[in-house]
Amino acid sequence: MSTQVATQVAIVGAGPAGLLLSHLLHREGIRSVVIESRTREEIEATIRAGVLEQGTVDLLVQSGVGERLKREGFEHEGIYLRFGGRTHRIALKELTGRAITVYAQHEVIKDLVAARLADGGEIHFGVKDAALYDLDTDTPKVRYDHGKEISCDFVAGCDGFHGVSRPSIPSRHRHEFARTYPFGWFGILVEAPPSTDELIYAHHERGFALVSTRSPQIQRLYFQCDPEDQVRNWPDARIWEELHARLENGEGWKLAEGRIFQKGVIAMRSFVVEPLRHGRLFLAGDAAHIVPPTGAKGLNLAVNDVRLLASAFSSYFKSGKEDALHAYSPEALRRVWRAEYFSWWMTSMLHRFRDDTPFQHRVQLAELQYVVSSRAKALTLAENYVG
Ligand code: DHB
Repeated sequence: MSTQVATQVAIVGAGPAGLLLSHLLHREGIRSVVIESRTREEIEATIRAGVLEQGTVDLLVQSGVGERLKREGFEHEGIYLRFGGRTHRIALKELTGRAITVYAQHEVIKDLVAARLADGGEIHFGVKDAALYDLDTDTPKVRYDHGKEISCDFVAGCDGFHGVSRPSIPSRHRHEFARTYPFGWFGILVEAPPSTDELIYAHHERGFALVSTRSPQIQRLYFQCDPEDQVRNWPDARIWEELHARLENGEGWKLAEGRIFQKGVIAMRSFVVEPLRHGRLFLAGDAAHIVPPTGAKGLNLAVNDVRLLASAFSSYFKSGKEDALHAYSPEALRRVWRAEYFSWWMTSMLHRFRDDTPFQHRVQLAELQYVVSSRAKALTLAENYVG
């Protein structure tokens, strides 16, 4: 059976970028339809990072989807860097006036889905074989489920790194910049009380480790692993042994153990496509760029893209002028590259590389020492971390 709908913006992907865009457009009186290949249950259960910049929090709160975040999120005013047998605090708030909030990405997703549905928003979950057409005309189309079609003024490609949107741009119009790292992160969720009041980023001879949190009962821990590693290679006892070894540095700090109820391996890559626009298709979020997780910039970058894109669409639909649409790609890319630089720098400073020589190891320690002893360098880290 074939069905056709018309809307102003067809949004491919119901991750944070697609959902937030639909929500912000609704507030500007602009109609959109969201399609998503996964089910609602899947997107609401996918475990990702959990650090929100102040600007991200402010946008969610100001646009009316920040109630639960304000209640359940945890504001942190600093982070710890642990290396060379010592722990040092970077005072984010003192240095920049801004803080970060720990609140899981899938909780943001739940809040956005609930808000869209309460406002009568149209989200189609579990769609198959989405494809984009006529992107270089004034009436682009999205087809899916063999016979369904959305015709629209614009398409927003928010369907992540593996989505169909980016490859819909002919390769001669796409410039891609990529770097893969020779390691991944092993991430776990644990039923345990917090071991620390603020996040700990640890540099260790056995590799990087990170102590984060989700709630007073649930902790989020990561450690650097082989990118090809498998969850089945890591029974609980081996995970704890590795985390204790990398995190307990002789200062008397102890990592609290608990029941591990989720394990996964996260790939590490840096990626940017330029430009973020092709005809009437605009890319946002992971469809356009990926950062390695160190520093937790991914979600925050997606939010920033969408803030600009919603405002550009709004300006177009109000005035008919295309200036803001033309400015979207260069403006968003400026911040994207800044975050690419920061995530690459944090990753390079904190991880062991396969071909590390003792010289490189010492240089990393010298850099970390510089970060914690120079106000200028600490401020550089803090400014980029809080966004
Ligand atoms: C988390 C993830 C990160 O990549 C990071 O740098 C800090 C925290 C997290 O999932 O909590």
